[in-house]
Amino acid sequence: MDASATEIEIAILPDATAVARAVAGIVAASSQTADDDFSIALSGGQTPRLLYETLASEPYLSRLDWNKWNVWWGDERAVPPTDEMSNYRLAAEAMMDRIPVPPERVHRIHGEIGSRAAALSYETEIRQHFGGEMPQFDLILLGLGEDGHTASLFPGTQALQETPLAVVPSVAPWPPRDRITLSLPAINAAHRVVFIVVGREKAHALRMVIAADQEDAQQPPAALVRPVGGAAQFVVDEAAALFLTGAPAQ
Ligand code: 6PG
Repeated sequence: MDASATEIEIAILPDATAVARAVAGIVAASSQTADDDFSIALSGGQTPRLLYETLASEPYLSRLDWNKWNVWWGDERAVPPTDEMSNYRLAAEAMMDRIPVPPERVHRIHGEIGSRAAALSYETEIRQHFGGEMPQFDLILLGLGEDGHTASLFPGTQALQETPLAVVPSVAPWPPRDRITLSLPAINAAHRVVFIVVGREKAHALRMVIAADQEDAQQPPAALVRPVGGAAQFVVDEAAALFLTGAPAQ
């Protein structure tokens, strides 16, 4: 068993709904253990929509103590918050507009000012909130791209270089190309990191990540996520787990 297998926990669930429900339970439990500041970084992409809708519905809507939440984003595209490609917009429509997190505790990445300026601004906001060397988010939610990217850390890009920064500008291989992302050190400083991976189209990337050799310089960016707080957790559906279990998706 390669070293990575001991630093990753995988839960394989029947379908997207089961994945959303399971991760909602993880988020709820994490928020309830936090004191007066539960700092969560939301994932971008489409996969978490169902999770966000679940958290903004009963029983969570009335059960969770939203006043202690600080909502951050793991990455954003350099677009306005009204743009259909905005990660903020997706989260706002699915959850933020429906949960009572105080506005001053919603920390949007201002992609509309450009990736470099937005990264600097977010770095300042994060450092002001967390202080210290590197921010320690209570929970970071991440997706997985078909090329093994996560957040906006794409294979072979400058954003993956060693950095003292918590937030860096990045460039995606496809539009919208200009992005802003938490750096790998910021992700790995988290108390807890949970990947949400759904769909047959992610099966190859998931297999690459799980089987990655930590010594391999070409390993996918998502395989570099090794949070100091403990094992990286993958909550995936059977279709995405196809090459892990060999069992054909139903
Ligand atoms: C982004 C995300 C990115 C995403 C994966 C999976 O801004 O695009 O942060 O890392 O999580 O690309 O995206 P889907 O959930 O849409 O498949």
